[in-house]
Amino acid sequence: MRILVTGASGLLGLNLALEASRQHTVYGTVKDHSLHTDAFNVLQADLTVPGAIERVLEQSQPDWVIHCAALAVLEACEADPVLAHQLNSEVPGKLAEHVARGGARLVHISTDAVFDGQRGGYSEADQPNPLSVYARSKLEGERAVALANPQAIVARVNLFGWSLGGKRSLAEWFYNNLSAGRQVMGFTDVFFCPLLANDLAWLLLLMLENGLSGLYHVVASDCTSKYAFGLALARRFGFDENLITPASVEQGGLQAARSPHLTLKADKLIAALGEKPPSIDAGLARFYSLFVDDYPARLHALAAGK
Ligand SMILES: NC(=O)c1ccc[n+]([C@@H]2O[C@H](COP(=O)([O-])OP(=O)(O)OC[C@H]3O[C@@H](n4cnc5c(N)ncnc54)[C@H](OP(=O)(O)O)[C@@H]3O)[C@@H](O)[C@H]2O)c1
Repeated sequence: MRILVTGASGLLGLNLALEASRQHTVYGTVKDHSLHTDAFNVLQADLTVPGAIERVLEQSQPDWVIHCAALAVLEACEADPVLAHQLNSEVPGKLAEHVARGGARLVHISTDAVFDGQRGGYSEADQPNPLSVYARSKLEGERAVALANPQAIVARVNLFGWSLGGKRSLAEWFYNNLSAGRQVMGFTDVFFCPLLANDLAWLLLLMLENGLSGLYHVVASDCTSKYAFGLALARRFGFDENLITPASVEQGGLQAARSPHLTLKADKLIAALGEKPPSIDAGLARFYSLFVDDYPARLHALAAGK
């Protein structure tokens, strides 16, 4: 297949483009980053600029499009709600429209944060109630995609992994601090079900292969607190678990509102694919083995052009 991955310098997009390029011809868009890789074709594009979506579709002629580009930092969305709306709501809608017209299949990446996290255990049938600018803009993006392209897959995800700059995911944050012997807080009152970006990549490709469409929760088969996640990572890498102080998110001094119980059910996905997504522990085991294989350094080298 020919696959267009938007946001191929991002946490999900880069890992996805690299995983997909093992079996497919991949085109990946970047905006501010330059990427030097033989694994896939890099296209420079600011997708908010008129004509950019049409150009990257024309250049890549995709069978499948996986839209990962976003303003995905919550504080950046609070600081610039106009850009958040443009990038997280308008761009997905326009892309969905163009992809529908061209006949390719689309996966649009959304977030678990569309829920307020008061109850937890959310299925696709549950009513979202976004709390932040980011979450609201992502929910509008989901709706714009579904309207313009009802055949599209809208995947609500949460993820961790190794990134280009080494600082994008919670797992990297724990790794960077714990490996330097720094004390950190771990929230005991925020729950999530993150997948390793590389595992999420394979699930998204499997969903396309199986011809799925519509809204899916694509998360790990179990959930945990951010504190317990940090402890599990520390154990995996042999770091001192006492460096993680149990704390409440109230103590974190975060600007954007966080939803506490972002536990999502993946039952619809499991029924459609006939298999369970990996557990958090399985994801952390692969996160560790990628580290042992020097994968993070290989990612950093892509940015440096080594
Ligand atoms: N990370 C998480 O924990 C998480 C959790 C739930 C859902 N998600 C969702 O997963 C998806 C991927 O998130 P991520 O964490 O991988 O994102 P990320 O690491 O922040 O990467 C964002 C990507 O979007 C690109 N981008 C930004 N502005 C752009 C523009 N104007 N035009 C074109 N490209 C632009 C960036 O390109 P440059 O870097 O080259 O500028 C980068 O490749 C998003 O939809 C996000 O909402 C993420």
